[in-house]
Amino acid sequence: MLAEKSLKILIVCLGNICRSPTAHGVLSKMIISKNLEGAIEIDSAGTGSWHLGQNPDFRSTRAASSRGYDISKLTARQITDTDFSEFDYLLAMDKSNLSDLNKLCPERYKHKLELFLRFGSTGELSVPDPYYDESSGFEVVFDLIEDACEKFLEYVIEKHKLG
Ligand code: 4NP
Repeated sequence: MLAEKSLKILIVCLGNICRSPTAHGVLSKMIISKNLEGAIEIDSAGTGSWHLGQNPDFRSTRAASSRGYDISKLTARQITDTDFSEFDYLLAMDKSNLSDLNKLCPERYKHKLELFLRFGSTGELSVPDPYYDESSGFEVVFDLIEDACEKFLEYVIEKHKLG
């Protein structure tokens, strides 16, 4: 029997070294803990190309590690044209990322684009860019992302009858 197609989620930020790899790592671990590997696939990408092939920023890796997530092996890549057809959800970390995605995305796939924090419970819509911030910014980023990851998974499990 053919395996059912898994749900494919792409998390997008600017550099793919801080926010989107954080969400990538958090969602991946939550999916394993819910035995949903095979049902949901996670990837992340940046709209920019400055950090291609690099591992996440050490401040993100450190914040992740302190909360029990290992994101150190992820590598940055840039969004491609085929991502818009391949993925079921393309979730932007902030309004600027969403605006950039809207410019690149063919009209027929625009329903796949959304702000990641729309799924969260904090009322915030954009995960602040922590790159030029002091390290406390990375904890705020993590709080917002962890909340949205939990709520997003609840949403897709219910909507797509997973698990
Ligand atoms: P990210 O953060 O979009 O969360 O990965 C950034 C990383 C790098 C740069 C900007 C934001 N940069 O300008 O190089």
